[in-house]
Amino acid sequence: MLANLDPLILARMQFGFTVAFHIVFPAFSIGLASFLAVLEGLWLATGRQVFMDLFKYWIKIFAIAFAMGVVSGLVMSYQFGTNWSVFSDKTGPVLGPMMAYEVLSAFFLEAGFLGVMLFGMRKVGPRLHFAATLMVAVGTFFSAFWILAVNSWMQTPAGYGTNPQG
Ligand code: HEM
Repeated sequence: MLANLDPLILARMQFGFTVAFHIVFPAFSIGLASFLAVLEGLWLATGRQVFMDLFKYWIKIFAIAFAMGVVSGLVMSYQFGTNWSVFSDKTGPVLGPMMAYEVLSAFFLEAGFLGVMLFGMRKVGPRLHFAATLMVAVGTFFSAFWILAVNSWMQTPAGYGTNPQG
């Protein structure tokens, strides 16, 4: 039955499945990163152990959600090339920079400070660790900002020009 399906429909089904899978994890990691920053801030401000206990509990769930977000997100980046190669070719000059800003401003920030957040408490001390948690939280917001900017342009494309080559 699948052999009779239009390749466009198949490509949409595949991408739809992946993006539906991906969005579950940012929904967790964007909220949890900020929640973790609040918990650690409260622990630093009050010294109450309960905040650190909660932090240690939720950081494990955050790490899994984050890892799944990375894995499912990477697949979609490849699907831009495999499923939507002509679209990527035509819109690359507009969408490419925004996605590059996402990598540079969000993914680098998250990836760099995630290591400190997960493994660095004893190595860098509580205050610097808190700064790392904040950076990861800010990074998740930047991620969402740039990808939503891409989506916004796809819905209402504006501010670009075409040359004779198209
Ligand atoms: C076509 C759409 C999308 C693509 C190609 C994409 C791609 C990616 C990639 C490659 C990663 C892993 C980055 C790393 O190496 O750290 C990632 C993670 C992430 N994405 Fe997406 N993404 C898409 C849609 C979205 C949407 C709609 C949101 C939320 C509004 C979002 C939010 C995030 C966040 C917060 C992360 C980092 C945290 C995590 O892994 O959960 N993404 N995405």
